[in-house]
Amino acid sequence: VSATTAEKPRKRYPGEAKGFVEEMRFVAMKLHTKEQAKEGEKEVKQPEERPVQRWEPSVDGYLKFLADSKLVYDTLEGIIDKAPFPSCGVTVVLLSAKSSFFFRFPASVVWSNEKNKVISLMWSASDAEFRDTGLERSEKLAKDLQWFKEQGYTIPEPSSPGVTYAEYLKELSEKDPQAFICHFYNIYFAHSAGGRMIGKKVAEKILDKKELEFYKWDGDLSQLLQNVRDKLNKVAESWTREEKNHCLEETEKSFKYSGDILRLILS
Ligand code: HEM
Repeated sequence: VSATTAEKPRKRYPGEAKGFVEEMRFVAMKLHTKEQAKEGEKEVKQPEERPVQRWEPSVDGYLKFLADSKLVYDTLEGIIDKAPFPSCGVTVVLLSAKSSFFFRFPASVVWSNEKNKVISLMWSASDAEFRDTGLERSEKLAKDLQWFKEQGYTIPEPSSPGVTYAEYLKELSEKDPQAFICHFYNIYFAHSAGGRMIGKKVAEKILDKKELEFYKWDGDLSQLLQNVRDKLNKVAESWTREEKNHCLEETEKSFKYSGDILRLILS
């Protein structure tokens, strides 16, 4: 094979061989600071990026964090509950007089498309179902807030960071499935990792070690996470490289929005 006709080896993305979740994880880990996680590369700029051991949390701040987190999980879980889930897209086979066409577009578009003769609807990732994964946090947070109320605390209304993030998630769910999936992954997986560590440390400092429901899962957490990883990998299999890169590029925003909510703990 001459040098001119030889194909250049395609660029490999870190984590690619193991599946797309590993790619998302790789990008996310680099956005941590060294103090937050070993693989972190970012420099400390915000208060919540300092070591959790040195945080000085307050109950009021922590309640703000929980109230804003509740709004975010309510929104996320509400979006996912609304069938059908647009991130999968659907493959629609339309039969015209002479030929058949294959389309992929968000399910919401399909359901209202009555003029066309839709003869077959196929989920492009029919086994990728993100409902009832066991990672949901909305009901757990409701119990925790109720507990605080019984202790005599006033539960604050969600504040600007939570409201802004919830609005953004709604917007993405309607028009940008790849970006939405990035937030879905980061929100649930961050909570299972750093989030749990934060919960433990904060409880030691201000809650007399009370373990909140927010940090408890029904069933084996590592198995629940693995099931979701498998589904995410499956969904991303149908994405182009551009769609995958677009999803990965959203990670920074995910850190920004979640960081703004985490910072409430220290307010
Ligand atoms: C994983 C800490 C904030 C996303 C982790 C891990 C730690 C950690 C210790 C586990 C690393 C390992 O597997 O060895 C923290 C701390 C944070 C923080 C202390 C803030 C104070 C965030 C934020 C996001 C995020 C804001 C994104 C919104 C992730 C993801 C993983 C992770 C996606 C991978 C989880 C997995 O492998 O399943 N974090 N993190 N983290 N974090 Fe964070």
